[in-house]
Amino acid sequence: MKKPSIAPSLLAADFGNLQRDVEMVNASEAEYHHIDVMDGVFVPNISYGMPVVKAIQKSATKPLDVHLMIVDPDRYIEEFANLGASILTVHYEACTHLHRTLQAIKAHGMKAGVALNPHTNIMLLEDTIQDIDVVLIMSVNPGFGGQSFIEHTYEKVKALKALIQRKNSSALIEIDGGVTTANSQKLVDAGADILVAGSFVFKSTDPIKTIKELKG
Ligand code: DX5
Ligand code: ZN
Repeated sequence: MKKPSIAPSLLAADFGNLQRDVEMVNASEAEYHHIDVMDGVFVPNISYGMPVVKAIQKSATKPLDVHLMIVDPDRYIEEFANLGASILTVHYEACTHLHRTLQAIKAHGMKAGVALNPHTNIMLLEDTIQDIDVVLIMSVNPGFGGQSFIEHTYEKVKALKALIQRKNSSALIEIDGGVTTANSQKLVDAGADILVAGSFVFKSTDPIKTIKELKG
């Protein structure tokens, strides 16, 4: 069985020891550093902005998986490219011209991701799935770490996998929110390629071991 890639979410890191926590991810079996940027408008929370992303980038040795929970994300595509983002994910619900946004992300040398809120149907990606590198399925309502996993996510992942195959797309499926070892294997069986985990990793007594366990 294929093992998932793991993207620990630094939202759950100890910001007073950010470099130490980034280095923990460097030393682990994780594939990405997941970076959650929230603007207090698209979601009811503000996380961190460019100076913090820059500080993470300085110590990070793995690709940066940047998840923008902000309105009008086109304004910052160039800045995130300059900060070294590998994947730049925007929310479907925040993009009036999603196709144009995806092209702009790719033109800046990044992989283009689209995130879907729990209420957003995967069929809305039918006309763009061939232009998408990563689909991020939110398995909680975005804005906060530490929430409980929404069980309907499995059905959504299966439907998305079918759409990707039907359309001959190479898009990867990423799951974000409430991911633990209680649901990781079931998510992979449903078709998930990348698992984001914040609290489950950073609040555990041995984060490196927890990351290994999430891989299965
Ligand atoms: C939530 C963020 C997630 C969050 C996940 O809006 O997009 O990446 O950090 O945290 P956990 O794993 O604690 O649900
Ligand atoms: Zn996220």
